[in-house]
Amino acid sequence: MSKAEISLTINDEERRVYVRYADTLLHVLREELDLTGAKPGCLNGDCGACTINVDGDPMKSCLMLAVEAFDKKVTTVEGLKNTPIQTQFIEKFAFQCGYCTPGFIMNCHALIQKYPNADDTVIKDWLESNICRCTGYQEIEEAIKAALPNYQQGT
Ligand code: FES
Ligand code: FES
Repeated sequence: MSKAEISLTINDEERRVYVRYADTLLHVLREELDLTGAKPGCLNGDCGACTINVDGDPMKSCLMLAVEAFDKKVTTVEGLKNTPIQTQFIEKFAFQCGYCTPGFIMNCHALIQKYPNADDTVIKDWLESNICRCTGYQEIEEAIKAALPNYQQGT
């Protein structure tokens, strides 16, 4: 199958890469660009382990073709070093095996950017797109609340 060279903007860097038209962004990030933070889980959009951020929105990179990312701003968990949510995941021990953690951090980071006043209801709704098999969601919710600039208790 033929490949095409495309330019992707990832974590504020331009990266040139040869991709097949059918390659998912998850595959290209991990196998071609050595960005292994996004994890393969279900590969069908259910688990959220592969979540990245595209133009400000959380996206499941197993459902997106790499060529669709052309001309968009992509952020992976490698680009979120020392952000409030990354720090709070560590502070609140919001992980066990850690396999799902990059996806959760990406999703929670987007929540904080979009809804700095999020309450409990918004947080619970937002977390439904990601699945963790081994830690409690309570620690993850605590990490979000600690990282939210204007957290409001829900009613
Ligand atoms: S691997 Fe993408 S949602 Fe599960
Ligand atoms: S911490 Fe292990 S799957 Fe979530």
